Amino acid sequence: MGEFDTIDRTSSNAEKYTLRQKLFGTEEVHPMWVADMDIATPICVVAAVQERLKHPIIGYEIMPESAFEAQVAWVSEHHAFTMQREWLSYSPSVVASIGCTIRALSEAGDEVIVMDPVYPPFYSMVKENNRRLVIHPLRQDEEGVYRFDLDLLRTQITDKTKLLLLCSPHNPVGRVWSRDELGALGTFCLEHSIVIISDEIHSDIVFQPHSHIPMGSLSKELLNNTVTLTGPGKTFNMAGFSISTVCIPSEELRTRYKEEYHRVHWGDGAALSHVAFEAAYRDGSPWHQRLIGHLSHNALLIEEWAAKHPLIRYSPPEGTYLAWLDCRALGLGDRELREFFIQKAGLGLSPGLSFGKEGSGFMRLNFAVPTSVLTQALEQLGKALND
Ligand SMILES: Cc1ncc(COP(=O)(O)O)c(C=O)c1O
Repeated sequence: MGEFDTIDRTSSNAEKYTLRQKLFGTEEVHPMWVADMDIATPICVVAAVQERLKHPIIGYEIMPESAFEAQVAWVSEHHAFTMQREWLSYSPSVVASIGCTIRALSEAGDEVIVMDPVYPPFYSMVKENNRRLVIHPLRQDEEGVYRFDLDLLRTQITDKTKLLLLCSPHNPVGRVWSRDELGALGTFCLEHSIVIISDEIHSDIVFQPHSHIPMGSLSKELLNNTVTLTGPGKTFNMAGFSISTVCIPSEELRTRYKEEYHRVHWGDGAALSHVAFEAAYRDGSPWHQRLIGHLSHNALLIEEWAAKHPLIRYSPPEGTYLAWLDCRALGLGDRELREFFIQKAGLGLSPGLSFGKEGSGFMRLNFAVPTSVLTQALEQLGKALND
């Protein structure tokens, strides 16, 4: 079997498959929604966990220094950002880190900027922690490239606006923000005393000629004004290990964060996750390179398919394995659009509207699948469109 070939996930508790009935009302859809990959987790990760299991006790364990060092080395090599060990702490989930950071660095009733469309928990973490949303629309320019608009944002903020939740690279629109864009946004935040929470979980899934630039790497001021959240979950398809890190270079922000961190008592995480995390960052580079080749090929197949199906507009993502399909030319309402994908194409995608108002008329397709699966899905969609 090839490295990126089909694997049956229906026998594990994979969300993507198990929740089909609940989400789509039928088991008869190929699920291409939640952002994990239908691709085997790299052997170096699985082998390290198997090796650890030779020891018969899985008790409380601390996250070893070597695990943090492996991540520091990875980020330095891949993104030219040198994190220091004392800036880093363990987190079970990037979304949980967003909630914890919001509580630590703002007060109830404060405002948090969120760009629309975006990964849905960005909204819920703000609301469920009793903060107020400042929803900034991302809009496509004449070339179809999604942009934020700092002139508009200036009119949206108030003296209660304390935080910006940045998704970099951006889920679902696939932007890898440029140095100029990040610099302008960062300067804006510094001018208005807005701390940036930069979710960089997709930072390793980036396609040529783009490269991910960590917000904190732009300047000393931005380093001290940014909380960076990242982890191996997307890169190495190991979300099931529930492990990521929070990077806070500013001592003052870190102290405030740590108080909240202790209140939620996350501890140090699970023994097998530490091992998986370290192995991925230490040994996963060759696999990661091959993965990017596989995903680039899949992105190209969608582009070729879209050229023949003008009712669906698609610009290849600069980063992420998520295709943001513009289905507005079909002239369907959001509910009908979703039904069309389920009933006519047999595909379970994420509806654009679930990412915010600006996502209306779009569908998000996860193309981190074996190429044969993608080809089959595109064939089904093409047939549904022709019918
Ligand atoms: C932007 C973004 N942040 C966070 C997550 C989830 O991270 P975690 O599983 O560590 O909470 C996802 C998953 O799709 C995501 O797309």
